[in-house]
Amino acid sequence: MSATPLLELRGIDKSFGPVQVLRDVAFTAHPGEVTALVGDNGAGKSTLVKCISGIHPTDDGEFLFEGRPVSINSPRDAAALGIEVVYQDLALCDNLDIVQNMFLGREKRSGLVLDEPTMEQMAAETLAGLSVRTVKSLRQHVSSLSGGQRQTVAIAKAVLWNSKLVILDEPTAALGVAQTAQVLELVRRLADKGLAVVLISHNMNDVFAVSDRIAALYLGQMVAQVRTTDITHSQVVELITAGRSGNLGLVEAGAGSAGTATGSTDTTSGAVR
Ligand SMILES: Nc1ncnc2c1ncn2[C@@H]1O[C@H](COP(=O)(O)OP(=O)(O)O)[C@@H](O)[C@H]1O
Ligand SMILES: [Mg+2]
Repeated sequence: MSATPLLELRGIDKSFGPVQVLRDVAFTAHPGEVTALVGDNGAGKSTLVKCISGIHPTDDGEFLFEGRPVSINSPRDAAALGIEVVYQDLALCDNLDIVQNMFLGREKRSGLVLDEPTMEQMAAETLAGLSVRTVKSLRQHVSSLSGGQRQTVAIAKAVLWNSKLVILDEPTAALGVAQTAQVLELVRRLADKGLAVVLISHNMNDVFAVSDRIAALYLGQMVAQVRTTDITHSQVVELITAGRSGNLGLVEAGAGSAGTATGSTDTTSGAVR
């Protein structure tokens, strides 16, 4: 575990027109760790991820990457830093095979033609490096894969590009028990390889099974970011639903308390205020 976060956000504000969706948000992601990003529908999780991945410009705030200030103004900027997002709908093409999907839009060429042997080898090495053994042929169409296999391919696609930070939006939402376990193992392996992983999830079992830290968004405010070992299921549920739990989260409930959660993020005690 490293003391310097791979990614640190400070004071992020984001509005869509008159609606402020993110308010003074602080967030860190550490190499070798899984950070679960939790929050109710509409809390701002996807918006935060889209700010990190350069899809939405922020109104205010700072980004630090490996301790240095950076600006992320486009998905290209994010990719250049090694930030990859696996979106919930996966954006895989059913009518293409695994290799074609993994290299979609970033194909390797040899002169004018596609360099299929190189792409196939890189795809095979990436899947092997993630200890993925459930896929029979790299040349099978994605339409023939199970939900868990599709998620695996989408994750492998994200780590193919020497990524340092992989963000997964609800990767197990549509999966059964066995496939969920497989994907969570893969998530854990990504972190064990040294990547910083951000896992958006509604499933407390998944969050507690795999995360090192939990960051809770409530109505656009980061009300706590704590080590998973320092918090209970029911406390996380309270943070999600009420924005506070005991000494965690918003200092006062109700109107007028906006901005009371400072979101100090490198605490081991768990108190965030
Ligand atoms: N492009 C947009 N334009 C206007 N409002 C948006 C846009 N994207 C998200 N929102 C609003 O921002 C809030 C947070 O949404 P979102 O980030 O999707 O939450 P979550 O992913 O936590 O469910 C919601 O109230 C949503 O309606
Ligand atoms: Mg969302």
